[in-house]
Amino acid sequence: MSKHKPLILVTGAMGQLGKTLQETALEEDAFAWVFCDKEAFDICDPVATAAVFVQHKPDYCINTAAYTNVNQAEENPLLAKTVNVTAVQHLIDACNQHNTCLLHLSTDYVFDGAQAHPYVESDTPNPINVYGKTKAEGEQRVLTKAQKGYVIRTAWLYATTHGYNFYRSILSKAQAGDSLSVVNDQVGSPTTTVQLALFLIQIVKKAPPYGLYHCAGKQVLSWHAFAKQILAEHQLKVPLKATTTPNGGIQRPRFSALGTEKSIE
Ligand SMILES: NC(=O)c1ccc[n+]([C@@H]2O[C@H](COP(=O)([O-])OP(=O)(O)OC[C@H]3O[C@@H](n4cnc5c(N)ncnc54)[C@H](OP(=O)(O)O)[C@@H]3O)[C@@H](O)[C@H]2O)c1
Repeated sequence: MSKHKPLILVTGAMGQLGKTLQETALEEDAFAWVFCDKEAFDICDPVATAAVFVQHKPDYCINTAAYTNVNQAEENPLLAKTVNVTAVQHLIDACNQHNTCLLHLSTDYVFDGAQAHPYVESDTPNPINVYGKTKAEGEQRVLTKAQKGYVIRTAWLYATTHGYNFYRSILSKAQAGDSLSVVNDQVGSPTTTVQLALFLIQIVKKAPPYGLYHCAGKQVLSWHAFAKQILAEHQLKVPLKATTTPNGGIQRPRFSALGTEKSIE
């Protein structure tokens, strides 16, 4: 008789991280995988959530689905809250009902950026924009209400091969020969979706204590320094000007690099 493989349900499967998880899953045959994009499974729909869990009875749910547009969240705070908080509560309820372990993604933007050294798990969130506030609330729900729950915070996430992200935007502008202006007064830790996907799989395999973990790249860079690195990596030579964040726009943390004080070993 064949042994039951633990089943991992992934929400938001066509997002940056979702797509990388689909690629990573091809190498991970110890698990059965179900990938649902927004069309197949809208996490804001509680009826759909209940039905998906009844159908698949997942052992794990990796929630990559989120309202991630930081600028638009300021215009649509209700929608941002519905996706990043209310829908997360539906997932928690379904996970608790089906004894499913929830792995929920969160962000460096839960911090205000006033610190000058990388934020670790015990630092206190103090979000300064709508996106950060909704993500902070969502992660609190998981940490306090999920019977089997992990929150994995990451930062400045990018895939080199797909998605809308800083890395690909700089690359395509430079390849088109455009000159670039990039801010040097926001500092963070760029993280590849591959690093994050492998980290999530390690959590499933190693089963560390439930709770909050950070997963981010080791480098601490400004957007300008990151752009310079991308140009060097691709031997592209276009003018790159350092600018500062304009006054009066949406608030973003000036420093949101993530470090860690917790190991999953
Ligand atoms: N991107 C970053 O720099 C960054 C940094 C730190 C943390 N994070 C966190 O990391 C996680 C993954 O981010 P990502 O960059 O992979 O995000 P992403 O590329 O924006 O992907 C999110 C996916 O969720 C989908 N989605 C939105 N609303 C949904 C709903 N109601 N039901 C089901 N799916 C829905 C989106 O579909 P549509 O596009 O069709 O709406 C999209 O495919 C998120 O929790 C994010 O907050 C991201």
